[in-house]
Amino acid sequence: MNTKVVKMDEHNLDKGSLIECGKILREGGLVVFPTETVYGLGANALNAEAVKKIFEAKGRPQDNPLIVHVCDIESIKPLVKEIPEIACKLMGKFWPGPMTIILPKSDLIPEETSAGLDSVGIRMPSNLIARELIRVSEVPIAAPSANISGRPSPTDLERCMEDLMGKVDYIIGGEKCDVGVESTVIDCTIYPPCVLRPGGITLEMFREVDDKIYIDPAIMKKPDKDFKPKAPGMKYRHYAPKAPVKIVQGELNKTVEKINEIIKECVSENKIVGVMATDETANYYKNAVIISLGSRKNLNTIAQNLFGTLRSFDDKKVDIILSESFEEEGIGIAIMNRLKKSAGFDIIKA
Ligand code: TXA
Ligand code: MG
Repeated sequence: MNTKVVKMDEHNLDKGSLIECGKILREGGLVVFPTETVYGLGANALNAEAVKKIFEAKGRPQDNPLIVHVCDIESIKPLVKEIPEIACKLMGKFWPGPMTIILPKSDLIPEETSAGLDSVGIRMPSNLIARELIRVSEVPIAAPSANISGRPSPTDLERCMEDLMGKVDYIIGGEKCDVGVESTVIDCTIYPPCVLRPGGITLEMFREVDDKIYIDPAIMKKPDKDFKPKAPGMKYRHYAPKAPVKIVQGELNKTVEKINEIIKECVSENKIVGVMATDETANYYKNAVIISLGSRKNLNTIAQNLFGTLRSFDDKKVDIILSESFEEEGIGIAIMNRLKKSAGFDIIKA
């Protein structure tokens, strides 16, 4: 397939290209587009054949449901059976933005989109390219992250092209994504609502609306064979670069010592080591490919750089990646959730 690529500025939209992409979506094609979290691989959510193409292009397991993207709150009414009051409150506060709400689905949503579940995840992105694309397509857009299944989600145009050139009709490039990790998924089919995937809208932010909201305790633990997360996507190995990732956890100075120790061992076995460091520590590592995620003082920047950095280690052909860890609060919960999954829960105590 010949993939067209166009770049545009969120604040100076190329309306002609968006209308062309909207038509492709309406007629059953695939379009990659930027959102504030990660890039999405979109198709008409109401067209089962179009949705099947997403699963093929990504190599995605069939039992993993897709998030449906809308451009305004009105558009969700036909897609769901009911909207509980708490869901209205959350939408009012956090939309447009990095939050997906799970609601009981209407018959309009094909089972290909919801992977056979009787619920559907819905999100209104804040990125203006995404919203205008959805508006001109005149249909709700199903969109998983625009990566080959299992790889870290793409946060810029180049990474989308790496994974999906030749597999989709169109790729729209915007700026590097703001948030950098996927949306927070919150299940509002139950009360109190439960966070199924941590993200840019944090537990602390939810609790300002309703202090009973909680995080599914299963998701930060290493999955065992009986593990059945409510978000099917959370059970797969994910966010994984080609080299194995190990997380070193402990006090920061001990972490640095431990990582240097492991580097020594690996170098003696002729291995190239990548270190996912921070501005505070990067100068203290030797004999490794060192990339800083940013300053520990700003976890938002760490989240924004996380997936891109994991992928840069692939470009540098390292044999192993050692990562520092972060405090599990605020967006740190989402950062550690993605890191642990990319490491297959391989955690070394410093
Ligand atoms: O930020 C995002 O959410 C990005 C952008 C493109 O919007 N999309 C994204 O989609 O991350 P995806 O497909 O990579 O992840 C969707 C997650 C999966 O873990 C899936 O299992 C869960 O949401 N999910 C979707 N619908 C669900 C449902 N009805 N019930 C439970 N979990 C659901
Ligand atoms: Mg994904």
